[in-house]
Amino acid sequence: MRRLLPVTDMTATETAAGPAAEGGREWSFDELADAYAYPEGDGVWLRANMVSSLDGAGQHDGRSQPLSSDTDMRIFGTLRGLADVIVVGAETVRLEGYRPARAREVFAARRAAAGQGEAPVIAVVSASLDLDFSLPLFTSPLVPTLILTGAAAPADRVAAAREAGAEVLVAGDGAGVEPARAVAVLAARGLRRQLTEGGPRLLGQFVAAGVLDELCLTVSPTMTAGGAQRIAGGPSVAVPTRFQVASVLEQDGFLFTRYRRI
Ligand SMILES: NC(=O)c1ccc[n+]([C@@H]2O[C@H](COP(=O)([O-])OP(=O)(O)OC[C@H]3O[C@@H](n4cnc5c(N)ncnc54)[C@H](OP(=O)(O)O)[C@@H]3O)[C@@H](O)[C@H]2O)c1
Repeated sequence: MRRLLPVTDMTATETAAGPAAEGGREWSFDELADAYAYPEGDGVWLRANMVSSLDGAGQHDGRSQPLSSDTDMRIFGTLRGLADVIVVGAETVRLEGYRPARAREVFAARRAAAGQGEAPVIAVVSASLDLDFSLPLFTSPLVPTLILTGAAAPADRVAAAREAGAEVLVAGDGAGVEPARAVAVLAARGLRRQLTEGGPRLLGQFVAAGVLDELCLTVSPTMTAGGAQRIAGGPSVAVPTRFQVASVLEQDGFLFTRYRRI
């Protein structure tokens, strides 16, 4: 792994740690966790982690895995290891076969020191609650899975979710969730280090609501052509939201970028 930005007096060392053509040595989970630490303090912070092809595709054949790499998955795991809660849209849960978050030994001490439970909570955003509640995500997570929905959610589906062991939280007055309210509802439960893993329709709403603080974007050195979704969808914002680059890492041609909202 090479750090391209910010350039520090460590950059040369990190680059020299292995042949540049091979991208240097692999970073440990501890080093990755330091690099991706949430801001100090007790404020709420919503970061997204997404991968995109060079031509802007956020998925291929309905999944993001064809765009990913081993290092991307290490960073994916690290961001989970740092988070209190993972917020995800129902379609991503359905298409990607979401499983409960694991307790990982590599992050155990760090999580304990930060006052976090052994694994992050998964919060699924859904209006229909058309989810398979017999899946391990709902029946056997380490910490009960949350479902964020609107006040008008179908009562039978709410009952089915609760019966399976999920906790249903209302974060909208109508059928759907209001993105800023979702952030606030989670924060009120002490879940302030927030991570969203999309999908694009959900991420677009966080962007439009002005509540996305940070984007961890993996630029995958691939092109897919076709009509795949971009990483953020839905109605566009009136004025493009500006972000500034916080860091760029590189491994095997993949760029692991991190941007913060200005
Ligand atoms: N490139 C990446 O990093 C990345 C990351 C994640 C996913 N993906 C890909 O993205 C695709 C899925 O993403 P997607 O954009 O189609 O769907 P999505 O954002 O994962 O989920 C959309 C669903 O979430 C629920 N939802 C979204 N906004 C809501 C709101 N305000 N209130 C209530 N419910 C809401 C609805 O569920 P109900 O229908 O249940 O009401 C909606 O159908 C997959 O192909 C996946 O592989 C890519």
